[in-house]
Amino acid sequence: MLKRTTIAAAGAITAMALLTAGCTTNAAEQTAKGGGDYAKMSPDALAEHLIFETKSFKLDMPVQEGGTAEARLKQDEVQVLCSKLRGKPVDSETAAKVTAMSRETIKYPAGGIKLGDWKIGRQLAWSGFGYRVGHRNDDHSKAKNGPGGNCYNCHQLATDRTGGTIGPPLTGYGKLRGSSDAILKYTYDVIYNPHAYFACTHMPRIGAKGLLTEEQISHVMAYLFDPESPVNK
Ligand code: HEC
Repeated sequence: MLKRTTIAAAGAITAMALLTAGCTTNAAEQTAKGGGDYAKMSPDALAEHLIFETKSFKLDMPVQEGGTAEARLKQDEVQVLCSKLRGKPVDSETAAKVTAMSRETIKYPAGGIKLGDWKIGRQLAWSGFGYRVGHRNDDHSKAKNGPGGNCYNCHQLATDRTGGTIGPPLTGYGKLRGSSDAILKYTYDVIYNPHAYFACTHMPRIGAKGLLTEEQISHVMAYLFDPESPVNK
């Protein structure tokens, strides 16, 4: 079983790690001013304090999808519920709430779920560009195939390239499962909002959070299902 922590918590830890190098002086100043005894703070309180109160993290930096880094760090309802688990396995009450809320976010294409072009899907699945927070915030919103789906970072997808291991391997996906309406719907749902099946998963809500459009999801799905796709070779 995969250990589940929340993406937002991971974000805070990353921000914290980024800050650690630069915060010493600031922290020393704060302590000197009597601004807080860091040694007495819980790790969470310290992280929140450093990020939100010391001005050492550029909270007002713009992010590609609009808004600021600060808005991005605010947890939504699902993230709050999943964070409460603090790394423990999801209990049935939380799972029921998260699953129900997540199912409601799923929107289907007007003409039903269709498979697009696996070649575009391949590009999207192997691109991690877009929606980053950082000094050189890359804007891929106008790029031909938009921001990527980042699938490769967590999944082994095909045998022609090496992918990540946070998620299960998807190699041979269509060949192994066929392409019935039920499996197409399941796959669309998981890509659109994986919490609908796996409450408090690590997988991002690709459709629900607008990382990929419905059309782009159809291309990524073609990459998973098309017999010609390297996924099924
Ligand atoms: C941050 C990691 C991460 C990213 C990025 C990610 N996934 Fe996942 N994915 C997972 C995990 C983890 C699971 C397993 C669900 C669970 O138990 O939490 C999963 C499950 C799945 C499943 C269900 C697998 C099955 O055996 O039924 C599919 C399909 C899938 N992902 C497709 C994708 C696609 C397509 C993308 C890119 C658009 C993607 N994932 C991006 C982590 C990720």
